[in-house]
Amino acid sequence: SKGLKVVLLMFLFVVGSLGLIGCSSEQTGTKSQEGQKAAEEKTYVVVTNAEFPPFESTLPSGEIVGFDIDLINAIAKAENMKIKIQHQGWEAMLKAVETGTADIGASGITIRDDRKEKYDFTSPYFEATQLILVPQESNIKSANDLKGKNIGFQSGTTGETAAQNIFGKDYKGLKGYPDLPTAVNDLFTGRIAAVIGDNAVVAEFVKKNPDKKLQLIKDDAFEKEYYGFIVKKGNKELLDKLESGLKKIKEDGTYQKIYNQYFAN
Ligand code: ARG
Repeated sequence: SKGLKVVLLMFLFVVGSLGLIGCSSEQTGTKSQEGQKAAEEKTYVVVTNAEFPPFESTLPSGEIVGFDIDLINAIAKAENMKIKIQHQGWEAMLKAVETGTADIGASGITIRDDRKEKYDFTSPYFEATQLILVPQESNIKSANDLKGKNIGFQSGTTGETAAQNIFGKDYKGLKGYPDLPTAVNDLFTGRIAAVIGDNAVVAEFVKKNPDKKLQLIKDDAFEKEYYGFIVKKGNKELLDKLESGLKKIKEDGTYQKIYNQYFAN
């Protein structure tokens, strides 16, 4: 009869729609689970110019070690983030974060207004200043004594800016190097009279090369600097994670423990 057909059709319709609802809710369930998994398993690429001991350097085994490395690992652990650390040249390292081929820069990077146009910085995690590295026998006592001499620094760093500020951008003796160890080598061979670099790093060269009889000179012209970790400009989600991790490791004593390992006494 007609009545039965209508009931049957209605029944089929209801069963059918229930099925569809079931399917679609199952699908969204799977999707969101996958999204969560992907977020959990994302590996953040950390880039560093690992020619800057004690902040970052590469062991003969290829392992990258240092204060920055220990810090970023501790932060990642506190935030449940997976990271992998890669060495790059200084300028390439900065570019990688700017363009997003890497997520985080951990490289003794001084927080500076011009850099803030391209990156977002975490809060400061280390205070630094520039120092002048010279052989003990040289009678250089201040930055002024370097007039007329060759001065080395790592290109694109605050060491370069410091040298330019004292001697002017056009000063002929300014010698930029791709990394600080190469500059220090040229100091050893006498091709340059001094190296300007971050205090803890040049101090490390003095300590590691007692036979070279080096000394450090302070100059009031050099301002205080602060290191921060960088992310691509606008990556607030990642910046917040780093910030939260940094806060946690400062509060629970991990930061101090790592600091003491590198800079005690
Ligand atoms: N603090 C200086 C700057 O930001 C030098 C950093 C160099 N770091 C390095 N890993 N080579 O310009």
